[in-house]
Amino acid sequence: MLPQTITEFGYAKINLALHVTGQRADGYHLLDSLVVFAGIGDHLRATPAAEMSLSVSGPFADGVPTGEDNLVLRAARLVAGDMGVAFSLVKSLPPTSGIGGGSADAAAAIRAVTRLRAMAGSLKPLSPEDGQKIVALGADVPVCLASHPTRMRGIGEQLDWLPPLPEVHVVLANPRIEVPTPAVFKALAQKENPPLPDQVPAWVDAADMAAWLVGTRNDLQGPALAVAPQIGRVLTELEQLPGALMARMSGSGATCFALFAKENAAQEAADHLRAAQPDWWVAAGLIYPGRADMAQLIRA
Ligand code: C5P
Repeated sequence: MLPQTITEFGYAKINLALHVTGQRADGYHLLDSLVVFAGIGDHLRATPAAEMSLSVSGPFADGVPTGEDNLVLRAARLVAGDMGVAFSLVKSLPPTSGIGGGSADAAAAIRAVTRLRAMAGSLKPLSPEDGQKIVALGADVPVCLASHPTRMRGIGEQLDWLPPLPEVHVVLANPRIEVPTPAVFKALAQKENPPLPDQVPAWVDAADMAAWLVGTRNDLQGPALAVAPQIGRVLTELEQLPGALMARMSGSGATCFALFAKENAAQEAADHLRAAQPDWWVAAGLIYPGRADMAQLIRA
């Protein structure tokens, strides 16, 4: 029988809001963030094999190490037991850009290995120590595992799913600069900022959601602008796109996003921006609204 190949998707992560509320003794920052996922991302194919291996292709393949330090292989080894897997990653998300990239790929690898082990009848439950090792891969890996709209606290390990979102479309833009996350956190002068409001409402539509978000912040946007002033240009261009409800930077940058109520408005805005800024990476997609049944379970 031919080994079965399965495909997982590494969804782009977007921090709609990111408040830095403190700092731990080990230097990691405490966050209060609203994290959502778009139908824009990396494809990961996984086939059972004698050994672990990884090949990388796609528009951003050059920025990805294929050796043992790659997050796909490190994540897979944590959960694979003695199973080998041949991975093939199509890298479409720009690396080191505030939208999850490596964390999304690591999460996709963990989902892929879990599915393959279930198919082989060798699935083992994860222990709390396995969970800690997964967080240690990257603070965004846990939230990327479910890729569900989430309020994320702690350094990324406290996850509460949000009520289902209304239909919202996003345009992502990156001026093809890599902004190292530690440098941005280092440039953050004020480490203790107010958290998000206690209750995140169930927004009725995209305009309602954007109006609420205007009262929130990305506390890393100021420090990222100090590290990479080009981000200011990206924000201005996104804000000026017809139909844009709001624009903000995601994560530690440099990728910024704008929200739209309608798919055609987002697609047209993305085409317009690509024509105006041919050197930038620009993508449009739907924000995953989440599962109503799961949100009901949380409220119950
Ligand atoms: O965990 P991740 O690899 O995404 O983090 C990269 C760097 O960002 C960390 O080494 C740390 O300097 C900084 N960071 C932080 N607080 C967080 C997440 C990341 O200070 N909650």
